[in-house]
Amino acid sequence: MDTLRSARRRLLAVGLAWAVAGAACSAPERVDAKRAAPADRRREELRDQLRGTLGERYDVPLAAATIEELARGSNFYDMLCRACHGPTGKGNGRSARMLMIPPPDLTDPSTAAFFSDRAKLQIIAEGIAGSPMIGWSRMLEEQDQIAVLHFMSTLVREPQSP
Ligand code: HEC
Repeated sequence: MDTLRSARRRLLAVGLAWAVAGAACSAPERVDAKRAAPADRRREELRDQLRGTLGERYDVPLAAATIEELARGSNFYDMLCRACHGPTGKGNGRSARMLMIPPPDLTDPSTAAFFSDRAKLQIIAEGIAGSPMIGWSRMLEEQDQIAVLHFMSTLVREPQSP
């Protein structure tokens, strides 16, 4: 029974390592096998899925952002996204601590480059199943989804020069 208990403890530790430790996470039953999978494997699975959904569109670049789009995107970001994604995109918004799955640090260049722009648009429109990231297609027109994505892209830090 001891091995069972320590295996369970290890599973819980893995879950807690990537989930934000909050009240919602303290009950071990809520850390099921899927949620305890490492975050990067989940992201890889999601990327494969989005590649499947989008096909050739996955890598089609967006038109460059206009100043007007960035301003509009910034407003939408503050109203709808900032509470979780944080004022500067680091994933530390005031609601983020309560989420089972934390928002990624989108100021990190490699994290920000993991999904293509089209994949991010798909995520913004439809959300991510089983995650606090809901879809916004009923609240935001496609042009506004693009605007908010363009704004988010301005939050990425410059890569460190060697
Ligand atoms: C309730 C909290 C919450 C709100 C509000 C929210 N998000 Fe998210 N978002 C998340 C979480 C958590 C993830 C990571 C989900 C996962 O990995 O399953 C995420 C992921 C994303 C991603 C994928 C990023 C990546 O590289 O992994 C994008 C793009 C995104 N959100 C955009 C937005 C936009 C745009 C808004 C506002 C219109 C928004 N989100 C509002 C919680 C939120």
